[in-house]
Amino acid sequence: MIRTRFWFAAALFAACAFVPVAQSQPQPAKKAAPKLEPVAETKLLMEGMADPNTKALGKLLAAKPKDAEAWSFARGQALLLAETGNLLLMRPPKTKDGQDSWLVHAADLRESAAGLARAAAAKDYVQARTALAGVANACNRCHQAFRVGVRVDPFPDDR
Ligand code: HEC
Repeated sequence: MIRTRFWFAAALFAACAFVPVAQSQPQPAKKAAPKLEPVAETKLLMEGMADPNTKALGKLLAAKPKDAEAWSFARGQALLLAETGNLLLMRPPKTKDGQDSWLVHAADLRESAAGLARAAAAKDYVQARTALAGVANACNRCHQAFRVGVRVDPFPDDR
């Protein structure tokens, strides 16, 4: 009985002696989680994403798309426009007033383009054309607010 107690006490002592040693080992430094950061200029997003996808959608929806492939292409382009809205949300201007208005317009672009993607997924031609006109309105509202002299018209041949 005494022997067992001795070994128990010895084991306890050993455990206490080792725990602090183990804890004093240097911990690997925790890396901060990566954050969203704007990289490209707004102008490049306009020229590389907003403008080409809007123009392509105008052409694609000039007449009713013939097959599922064309509709799925339209859906993809609409989603790229919606993602452009997300990218714009990351790069508001510095002033507080400018920031609030910018965020609203960028979110409008995302919502209207996501609506267009849903219409394309449903192969609803009338709804898709209306939604593309709505996207162009979102583009133009931001351009007006920030005095950008660019007027977006997805269906120029209609006039
Ligand atoms: C949140 C605001 C905002 C939204 C939404 C927006 N734009 Fe712009 N756009 C700008 C600003 C700001 C500029 C000027 C960029 C510069 O010159 O630095 C610009 C410039 C442009 C230009 C001219 C680029 C050049 O070469 O100078 C085009 C084309 C354009 N936008 C198309 C669009 C289209 C199409 C959409 C909608 C799908 C859109 N924009 C939505 C803010 C916006």
